[in-house]
Amino acid sequence: MNKNAKFWTRLSRKYAAHPIKDEAAYEKTLARTLEHLGPDDAVLELGCGTGTTAMRLAGDVKSYLATDFAGGMIEIAEERLAEQRQQGTAHEGLGFLVADAFDEQVMPAGGKPGYDAVLAYNFFHLVDEPDDLLARVHALLKPGGLYISKTVCLKDRAWLFAPLIAIMQLIGKAPYVNMLSIRSLEETIRKSGFEIIETGNYPEPRSRFVVARKV
Ligand SMILES: C[S@@+](CC[C@H](N)C(=O)[O-])C[C@H]1O[C@@H](n2cnc3c(N)ncnc32)[C@H](O)[C@@H]1O
Repeated sequence: MNKNAKFWTRLSRKYAAHPIKDEAAYEKTLARTLEHLGPDDAVLELGCGTGTTAMRLAGDVKSYLATDFAGGMIEIAEERLAEQRQQGTAHEGLGFLVADAFDEQVMPAGGKPGYDAVLAYNFFHLVDEPDDLLARVHALLKPGGLYISKTVCLKDRAWLFAPLIAIMQLIGKAPYVNMLSIRSLEETIRKSGFEIIETGNYPEPRSRFVVARKV
């Protein structure tokens, strides 16, 4: 397991216990996402954490594979899914997988495009090879498929966050973080072969929601 996956695994129980910071912004993210999904869709989620969002969205699509490289996160997601199965509320098409977003099992090189949508919430700023990731997402999507993401953009506060995060990284208390601006994020998405069809900040001002269509 790489050191970032270890970091997130260590954090997983605490992460699960933590209430969602801004409920209204979270509900808005879900509602806007659902507007773009349909009952026949095959969906892949990257960096799904403990599966909260997957469990909210999976009932509205045909299949939903939620992935994360932190075994601790997926362990909690599986526990929650097992509870839902017992209660008869689990969604048939939902599955969880421990895997790095760059793994072959998630993103097979030269694999056929198979997804209608790839979702990634609070994830892309943690990726150290963003262009490579988006090229893979693009290849996985069917023609016209959607990359729907929400990304923390810290560039305008890098003077504050960069040194803080660097110190925390030294003591193992922070993962890799890419300081993106909204502009650089959207440029990266566009140059990877997507057209941006919707944006928003949920919450303002730094959590950038982007719906991008494969062109
Ligand atoms: C900030 S959490 C967000 C979790 C969830 N998407 C949410 O919005 O609550 C970031 C998640 O991304 C996962 N992650 C980071 N880099 C990853 C990678 N390269 N492959 C798979 N998962 C990754 C972490 O393990 C963590 O669960």
